[in-house]
Amino acid sequence: MTSKFLKMGLAATMACTMVACSSQPAATEEGSEEAVTITIGVSPDYAPYESKDTDGNIVGFDPDMVAWFEEYLTEEEGKTYNLEFKEMSFDNIITQLQGDQIDLGVSGFTYSEERAVEWSDPYIKTAQVAVVPEGSSITSIDDLKGKHLAAQTGATGEIAANEVEDATVSSVQNVQDIFTGLSANQYDAAIVDLGVGKQYVESGSFTMVDGTLLDEENYIVAKEGNTEMIDLINKCIAAFTESEDYLTLCDQYDLLPLEK
Ligand code: ARG
Repeated sequence: MTSKFLKMGLAATMACTMVACSSQPAATEEGSEEAVTITIGVSPDYAPYESKDTDGNIVGFDPDMVAWFEEYLTEEEGKTYNLEFKEMSFDNIITQLQGDQIDLGVSGFTYSEERAVEWSDPYIKTAQVAVVPEGSSITSIDDLKGKHLAAQTGATGEIAANEVEDATVSSVQNVQDIFTGLSANQYDAAIVDLGVGKQYVESGSFTMVDGTLLDEENYIVAKEGNTEMIDLINKCIAAFTESEDYLTLCDQYDLLPLEK
């Protein structure tokens, strides 16, 4: 782990403290111009991308990446950047972007042409996969035909589920509730991103079906037309995905790095 990464951890802790306990403008670093605040919509129901720890902090790959960006921008641009999360349900993030309530959405987003947003460059390789209760007779994507599938409301998993022949699709707002329902056999399978599926499989009571419904990548989103914000974020993504910290974090959270 490089020292930049360790320093970043400290910056992240400080940023969170500021969000938690004051609405005053953030103090600027010595010699720098005024601070820039970027507000980010996040739905922390999607470990290892984002979840909440027992103290209520938002943790995971996405928050660590955002903390890296904050450190990087502050160094590169010569002024203090505060990248702050605002928690909301996943299906609300794009609405909030369009209403200028937030500047970015960072929440394990995958591409969908139905979303009228500005897309960044990709940052993680992923897929939509099916997760079933252990011992299920469903072992391949083909077996999903005619079954009861659950996916997150407004997610690409929901679109993929709706394309499965004769399937019944339940849209659920919170991903954690999908897995509670799956354990109780309310659904036959859940459609989620690969990294998320893997975590539930590791928890012991689920299996991942062979094959994928969609092969894709994760992106950051901004309001449609806000190319200035996306250019700034693409600069961060380029530096981040070339850094050693990127591979360290992919490994730590068991997510797939982009193929170079
Ligand atoms: N990748 C999927 C999509 O963009 C699901 C993302 C869900 N993210 C979350 N934090 N719940 O639609």
